[in-house]
Amino acid sequence: MSRRPEPGRCAEKGTPSADSLRRAIRARYTDVAADPRGHFSYPVGRRSARRLGYRPAWLESIPRDLVARFVGVGNPFPAARIRPGERVLDVGCGCGLDVFVAARLAGPRGSVVGVDLTPAMLARPRRAARRFPTASFLTARAEKLPFPDASFDLVLSNGVLNLCPDKDAAFRELRRVLRPGGRLVSADLLVTDDIPARTLASLDAWST
Ligand SMILES: C[S@@+](CC[C@H](N)C(=O)[O-])C[C@H]1O[C@@H](n2cnc3c(N)ncnc32)[C@H](O)[C@@H]1O
Repeated sequence: MSRRPEPGRCAEKGTPSADSLRRAIRARYTDVAADPRGHFSYPVGRRSARRLGYRPAWLESIPRDLVARFVGVGNPFPAARIRPGERVLDVGCGCGLDVFVAARLAGPRGSVVGVDLTPAMLARPRRAARRFPTASFLTARAEKLPFPDASFDLVLSNGVLNLCPDKDAAFRELRRVLRPGGRLVSADLLVTDDIPARTLASLDAWST
């Protein structure tokens, strides 16, 4: 798209501000943390993960209530090719399925941090993290990550970047926290058609 918003602002007249979008996203995902059913036009939970190729052994090692709250749009692991000992960041980790899978693949010398804008999404995975000593969770947003430059070998995101109002800022941050030569693997939704003004003005459309 050629029309660029100023940082923190939205491109189209009538588009909600970045702050109101974030509030709407937080409110929606607070509801999703309570019960993910009925919020998405695509499948969620264990059935979706299996359909996307997540291995049964991975899913069985993770508490059921977290697997049930998987709302990602793809399976980043075939492309991510995680090696033992790697430092991994999952941006917009939700209830943490990808964090725990990555922790398993990175092994005891690796580390995985999940960050999410919505504190309610992190409550359950934080409790589960007691059983996964190399996994941890922080409330933060993709556009302003609380890590020094070059902190990670790999950044994952699954169904998140489409929700970021300021995508340039998010990509800058993902690049900044990756070490030189590090990898970004993102599963996401990409809109290629023009979006009607009425949809651009809809908080609901932006936060789904
Ligand atoms: C579709 S869910 C995907 C959750 C998780 N990746 C998964 O696969 O189940 C999107 C997640 O991104 C979070 N999110 C949205 N915008 C964000 C942002 N700017 N920074 C960090 N997290 C964000 C939401 O709170 C929500 O938990």
